[in-house]
Amino acid sequence: MPIRRRRRHLRLRLRALRSGIAYTRVFEDDETDRRGLALTSGARVLVIASAGDRALDAVAWGAGQVVAVDRSPAQLRLAALKVAAAGVLESDDLIALFSRGRHPQARRLYAARLRPRLEGPDREYWDGWIGLLELGLHGHHPLGWATAIGGACLRLVGGRTLRALTWDSLDPTAQARLYESRLRRRYWNPLTRWMLGRRAIVRWFAADPSERRLMLGQRFHEWLEERISGVVATSLVRENPYWMPVLAGRPAAPDHETAWLRPDAIDAVRPAPSRIRLAEGSVVDVLETLSPGSLDAVALSNVPDWLTPTELARLWEALARALVPGGRVVLRSTLRPSPAPAGSAATALVVDEIASRELTLHERTGIFASVTLLVRAPNPGPTASATAI
Ligand SMILES: C[S@@+](CC[C@H](N)C(=O)[O-])C[C@H]1O[C@@H](n2cnc3c(N)ncnc32)[C@H](O)[C@@H]1O
Repeated sequence: MPIRRRRRHLRLRLRALRSGIAYTRVFEDDETDRRGLALTSGARVLVIASAGDRALDAVAWGAGQVVAVDRSPAQLRLAALKVAAAGVLESDDLIALFSRGRHPQARRLYAARLRPRLEGPDREYWDGWIGLLELGLHGHHPLGWATAIGGACLRLVGGRTLRALTWDSLDPTAQARLYESRLRRRYWNPLTRWMLGRRAIVRWFAADPSERRLMLGQRFHEWLEERISGVVATSLVRENPYWMPVLAGRPAAPDHETAWLRPDAIDAVRPAPSRIRLAEGSVVDVLETLSPGSLDAVALSNVPDWLTPTELARLWEALARALVPGGRVVLRSTLRPSPAPAGSAATALVVDEIASRELTLHERTGIFASVTLLVRAPNPGPTASATAI
């Protein structure tokens, strides 16, 4: 590449670090949320927006109304672009833009099909940043750089054995045998455990300082090692949309992508622009604005790990008020024990221990110590009528 083009590319890459986007895809197993939330057709759902995927997955699963909340404006800009794209683009373009994260015609597609469907801050933002979708969405930000470097190291150390896991048609049992006998000690040894005890390294993957401090204090790498063995033993790596980009440097096949990006979901996600409402702010504040009994399900990501004890107490109360009896909440945690309702809130929001264990066991990212399913207990006395969110 001529020097001048190399310099321009480097300038673009360095500028891209200032996009404000921290997450370009939701690194949380969609199957876990599908099973945990168990949405019925027309369900009223609240999710953490993050990269926008979970809100769109909820529409693909039949949700009628979705509130996608995030305190990061840049995350909401990305969610808005994905929602607009789901409403009009063909599956091949969606896969290029958001699974591969690179589309050679991104600017043309944006000008002709997406920009007319964006308004105010969303349009202003993408007028300036649409080049990210030509440069490479998933590798443009700090987590993207860390994942690219981490992935390259894993591929170097894993060599042919890792390639077998990401290419060959192994079943999970054969996969686990190969991983445990050939790869586990290469990836989990005194050096890697020491590295995962360093704040300077972990800060690239765990953005929240208080969560990070607790994770390091709890030697999170101990449960992470077991969780990763669990993922390899229960699911196919080459069909894992979360680990394939890291381990193979390419996305999983479209049929194995997160729900909204699968080619067979294209019709189901078309109504997304009219069903998803993006809300900027803390999830606790937004929940407190909702009417009693106006939600059927809530996906909290691992946000409770980032909340103060006061915010947590408000969260459980707001959830108990906003959820219908029987309403479901899925939350993830990198902490032990996981944040959970206490006191009177624990009476209203009951932990389903058996389902939580099952969901944790089958969560295909392996980066969470646990997944918890909460179910809203029936109200004593007469129930509230169904209201819109
Ligand atoms: C908790 S982070 C973790 C990343 C997540 N595991 C993923 O893969 O998308 C997810 C999102 O939560 C948002 N967030 C964190 N605290 C929040 C809060 N109190 N209210 C609303 N959004 C919050 C962050 O801005 C981020 O976009």
